[in-house]
Amino acid sequence: MLIAICSLKSSPGVTTLAVALGARWPSSETPVVVEADPAGGDLLTRFRLNADLTVVGLAASSRVRGNADPDELARHVQFLPGGLRVVPGPIAAEQSRAALGLLVPGLRRAGNRAGTVLIVDCGRVDPESAGLPIIRSADAMVLLARPRDDELAHVALKLQLAQQWSRRPCFVLMGRGHSAGYVSRELGVPVLAHIPRDVKGAAALRGDGANRNGPSKSALGRAAAKLAFSLRASVIQDQAKVDRHLVPGGVAS
Ligand SMILES: Nc1ncnc2c1ncn2[C@@H]1O[C@H](COP(=O)(O)OP(=O)(O)O)[C@@H](O)[C@H]1O
Ligand SMILES: [Mg+2]
Repeated sequence: MLIAICSLKSSPGVTTLAVALGARWPSSETPVVVEADPAGGDLLTRFRLNADLTVVGLAASSRVRGNADPDELARHVQFLPGGLRVVPGPIAAEQSRAALGLLVPGLRRAGNRAGTVLIVDCGRVDPESAGLPIIRSADAMVLLARPRDDELAHVALKLQLAQQWSRRPCFVLMGRGHSAGYVSRELGVPVLAHIPRDVKGAAALRGDGANRNGPSKSALGRAAAKLAFSLRASVIQDQAKVDRHLVPGGVAS
C-alpha cells in the first residue's frame, strides 16, 4: 500500500501527520515513512538520523539496480525512537528534487508487497512539483490543510485539479478554525478527518518534549490512529473493486 501525504499551501503539518500515521498504523502492516519533500527534509535534523541513509541513496541504488532489488528500501531504513521505520529526505531541496523522479518505480514496487505500507511525505505540491509522480502512483492522497479562511481560499482554487491527481483523494483538516462540516459545504468535498491542534503531541512527533517515544496517548496520536484505520479500509475496498474487475465474470459494484 502506498499513501502520499501533501499540502497545497503553507506548512500545515504534513511531516508530523506522516510520522503520526506511521506510528499508529494498524499492526497488520509494517509502515515505513518516506520523506520525499521537494523542499528538503526535516526528519534527519529532528531525530539526528544518519545523513548517509536518505532517499538520495535509495534513488541512486534504484537507478543502478534498475529497481530490481525489492530489499533496497529495507537497506535504507532508519528507526525513530519509538521503532517507526523511516527513510529521511536530504536537507537540501535540490538534492531532494533530483532524487524524487527516480524513486517512483521502487516505491510502487515496495508498496505492492503484502504487509508493507509506505507513507510518503510529498510536502507542498503544485502541478510542477517533483513529488507529483509519487502522488499519481499512490493508492491514496491525503491532502492536508488548516481550516482558516486565508489558507482555504488558496486551497479552493486548486482543489478540483488536485483531486484529479489521485484515484483516492482524501481531504484532511489540521488544527483550529472552521468545522469539518463548514469546510465540506464551502469547498464541496468530503472531509475525511479533522486532526486536532496538539502542541505536546506534535512535539513528541518532532523528537522534542517529554514523550520522545511517540504519540500513543496524545490527541494527535488518537486522531492519526482513526485516520490510518479509515485510509487502510478505503484502499482495501478500492483494491477489492479492481480485483472484481480483473476476475473473469467479476462484477464491479
Ligand atoms: N496537530 C498539530 N498540533 C500542533 N502543532 C502541530 C501539529 N502538527 C504539526 N504541528 C507543528 O507545526 C510545525 C510544522 O509541522 P510540520 O509537520 O513540519 O509541517 P509541514 O511538514 O507541513 O511543513 C511543527 O512545529 C509541528 O510540530
Ligand atoms: Mg514537512
